[in-house]
Amino acid sequence: MTQTPKQGGYAAEYRRSLEDTEGFWLDAARAIDWAVAPTRALDESQAPLYRWFPDGQLNTCHNALDRHVDAGRGEQLALTYDSPVTGRKASFTYRELRDQVAQFAGVLAGLGVAKGDRVAIYMPMIPEAVVAMLACARIGAVHSVVFGGFAAHELAVRIDDARPKVVIAASCGIEPTRVVPYKPLLDAALALAEHQPEHCIIRQRPQSTADLTDRDLDWDQAMATAKPVDCVPVAATDPLYILYTSGTTGRPKGVVRDNGGHAVALRWSLENIYDTHPGEVFWAASDVGWVVGHSYIVYAPLLTGCTTVLYEGKPVGTPDAGALWRVIAEHRVTALFTAPTAIRAVKKEDPHGALLHAHDIGSLRHLFLAGERLDPETYRWATDLLGVPVVDNWWQTETGWPIVANPMGLEPHPIKAGSPTMPMPGYDVHILDQAGREAPPGTDGAVAIRLPLPPGTLPTLWHDDERYVRSYLSAYSGYYLTGDGGRKDEDGYIYIMGRIDDVINVAGHRLSTGAMEEVLAAHPDVAECAVVGVADTLKGQVPRGFVVLKTGLDRDVREIAADLVTAVRETIGPVAALRQVDVVAALPKTRSGKILRRTMRDIADGRDPELPSTIEDPTVLETLRPVLRDDV
Ligand code: COA
Ligand code: AMP
Repeated sequence: MTQTPKQGGYAAEYRRSLEDTEGFWLDAARAIDWAVAPTRALDESQAPLYRWFPDGQLNTCHNALDRHVDAGRGEQLALTYDSPVTGRKASFTYRELRDQVAQFAGVLAGLGVAKGDRVAIYMPMIPEAVVAMLACARIGAVHSVVFGGFAAHELAVRIDDARPKVVIAASCGIEPTRVVPYKPLLDAALALAEHQPEHCIIRQRPQSTADLTDRDLDWDQAMATAKPVDCVPVAATDPLYILYTSGTTGRPKGVVRDNGGHAVALRWSLENIYDTHPGEVFWAASDVGWVVGHSYIVYAPLLTGCTTVLYEGKPVGTPDAGALWRVIAEHRVTALFTAPTAIRAVKKEDPHGALLHAHDIGSLRHLFLAGERLDPETYRWATDLLGVPVVDNWWQTETGWPIVANPMGLEPHPIKAGSPTMPMPGYDVHILDQAGREAPPGTDGAVAIRLPLPPGTLPTLWHDDERYVRSYLSAYSGYYLTGDGGRKDEDGYIYIMGRIDDVINVAGHRLSTGAMEEVLAAHPDVAECAVVGVADTLKGQVPRGFVVLKTGLDRDVREIAADLVTAVRETIGPVAALRQVDVVAALPKTRSGKILRRTMRDIADGRDPELPSTIEDPTVLETLRPVLRDDV
């Protein structure tokens, strides 16, 4: 198996990635099997839209499965499914997974799905979700996975944007305390959506089977009669998937991932950042509906020839706070990747780590954490308990792999609590002030990346170059705006302090306060509203809603507040976790009418922010202060 070539330590590799971009990435590309090897790395002809490996051709599924079988890895485990919520466990060798995927690709091809067609996937953490994703990749179709915690409206919005030919779903998902029937949510989404797929394929689960209609096919029956199909080579620049992520408005952004740059970057990252090598067991305890799931449950481990663990459960409650340690011990996991919130949940239930002692976690070399800021207390607790490096890494759906990390496989750096460490190759990270000037070390600013972004990052938004440029590239000319604020220290370590827009992070899930506000504002009794993300010891942040009601209403305000909580849950989904809506007399605003959301958040978090000089009426804020502080 080709290793990703290394020429020096971190500093040399990083410098080379920026100074000899072609050489660096063409070398990294040698770890991938190409149908037509690329002769060029970067295509700048349409800057600021960049493309990688413009003359290369490959198939991502071939690289994830077939090549490993061909190279003698066929009997090694590719995927281990561990589902405490159903009591099921199953394993698939590379050969078995390849055969399943080829067969399901045959199902899709039989339905007329071809290169470039979109397929939506609305599934829980079951092996069929991975099979469905890879089957799309096999025939050059573009998958769009929608997280199961989103409700019908969110699914409908994504279906209307991606216009899938086929939707693949399961009859239900299983949460620790309840079964969530997915099929009624899918049917409701299709009733809302303008676009209609030609077929839905439903994986029936015994916990709640679904009624099928003429448009629906049963997964098992379709598989029984399908013929396996081979991999179709695609251009490196062709889309592999679309993954929708929350922006500042209710309309999610369709992040596009290409085939070539993605395969090259993920392959490089697993060895050089995550220090995980062919044959080892990698476990990303996330969900296939999020980018961490796409990159580090599915693609990177399989591209590398590792065994990936697909865990259908939670860190706590399935059955207890020892679940992470049980899975590590049972499957000999070498690297666990999850969100800090999962560790905080374990710490809350088992503060002294008593449940760890029942399990031999000697296989574990690293704990990687991302998805939200890793607070120093959680970092120290996990480090003391596990005795392995606890490694923060910062990135986002748009980039697909770490922007800033500690390259454990290349050259581990001393860890500084609170910092995800150094920029990764190809990411020229800058901290900019409002005028676009470099902020001095130690000073907070907007975190921006000088263009071009490296391979694997988004080339654009789905069918919307204009929105891509407007949202990300227009704030500072020549830079990609990450949406995060942060600073660098004297040693070049980067600290990420949180979003500077209306995106919040709830239990590692990225959500838009703007989308929640749209739901609140649509309520007939609401005159105006604001949703802000406030600090939460378990989930990092949780949303809180504040509404001003229309005058002359004759309803109990508690009833209205409860209606609003339900509306967000039913429109966006339970994952939004908006539990508290306060009815208030007025919202604090600037003289030009802008609601002072950041000031509200700061007060709710217990800080004492300086009041903006443009505030319209400071007494409004004073009246609101006890509500924000929850002192009423
Ligand atoms: N399908 C349906 N509902 C889902 C769902 C899914 N796939 N995922 C979550 N939900 C529901 C939950 O059941 C919960 O519903 P409730 O309000 O009725 O209890 C709600 O959405 C919020 O879920 P969650 O964010 O998971 O919070 P929680 O309180 O159930 O659990 C943690 C808290 C910390 C244990 C949990 O968030 C966790 O394991 N986080 C790990 C972080 C992670 O996976 N991040 C992804 C990026 S790395
Ligand atoms: P997502 O697109 O869902 O992966 O969310 C990306 C956002 O999560 C980033 O823009 C950050 O705000 C936040 N985030 C992810 N990882 C980290 C991290 N390691 N430290 C701080 N914030 C993070």
